[in-house]
Amino acid sequence: MRYDTPGLERWNSRAYDSSFGYVSTQGAPLVDLLDPQPGERVLDLGCGTGVLTAQIAFRGAEVLGIDGSSAMIEKALAQYPGMNFIVGDAHDFTVARPYDAVFSNAALHWMSRDPDAVIASVREALLPGGRFVAEMGGAGNCAELTTAMLTAWREHGLREPELPWYFPSPAEYARRLESEGFVVRLLEYFDRPTPLEECPGGAADWVRMFASSALDGLAPGLVDPLLRRVNELAAPALRRESGWMADYVRLRFAAVRR
Ligand SMILES: C[S@@+](CC[C@H](N)C(=O)[O-])C[C@H]1O[C@@H](n2cnc3c(N)ncnc32)[C@H](O)[C@@H]1O
Repeated sequence: MRYDTPGLERWNSRAYDSSFGYVSTQGAPLVDLLDPQPGERVLDLGCGTGVLTAQIAFRGAEVLGIDGSSAMIEKALAQYPGMNFIVGDAHDFTVARPYDAVFSNAALHWMSRDPDAVIASVREALLPGGRFVAEMGGAGNCAELTTAMLTAWREHGLREPELPWYFPSPAEYARRLESEGFVVRLLEYFDRPTPLEECPGGAADWVRMFASSALDGLAPGLVDPLLRRVNELAAPALRRESGWMADYVRLRFAAVRR
């Protein structure tokens, strides 16, 4: 199967690993929560460049990584030859044989078109009793960053951009999981202020990497002043002496297919 999820090719897989590697570094405790066992079959949904997929494989599990971006999958295949990665859309992927566990780090909030369809696809990919272990942005995630963006856009007389994410509250996501046939065993909702260590350009760099769809169609001369203004607006809340901080809020859960 080889197809691309529309809109996902904006991911720059090279910049992702070099500048935003913290995303997968912070996923290591989630691998502990998954606790993959030797010989288990695990699917990593929204695997990106495969860093965590490889960590799961290192613990002896047999892993398949799926991602909607062919650039991410190409990089994963190049970095981890011999491992299994395919391009696929989390909303409607199918598997030949169900898995013991589905894992997902920092990806479910990007799968915003139809969260119930994603959860239903995960359920169908699992054996009864199979685990769904994931972490995603939760309600209020990046509120300072996005408020600064929306204000800057308004100030420049632009229509507010549609932001691509789905950041649910714990109650909302638990309800979705339960109504799609899961029992929620653990659900955590917490702040995780995250240093943007590789973002010398501050919030502006974050917008370019994670919200670049908002820049589509803007006059080229407008982008720099707009992003400068985002930095000015976000700085009081997010710039520290040590550097920029992103105001991340996370939702982490472990659920079991009934
Ligand atoms: C922030 S990255 C996280 C990657 C990886 N899990 C990690 O921890 O480094 C989010 C990933 O979700 C993928 N993604 C977004 N929407 C998707 C969809 N509908 N189907 C499959 N993958 C998707 C993106 O291509 C991207 O690689």
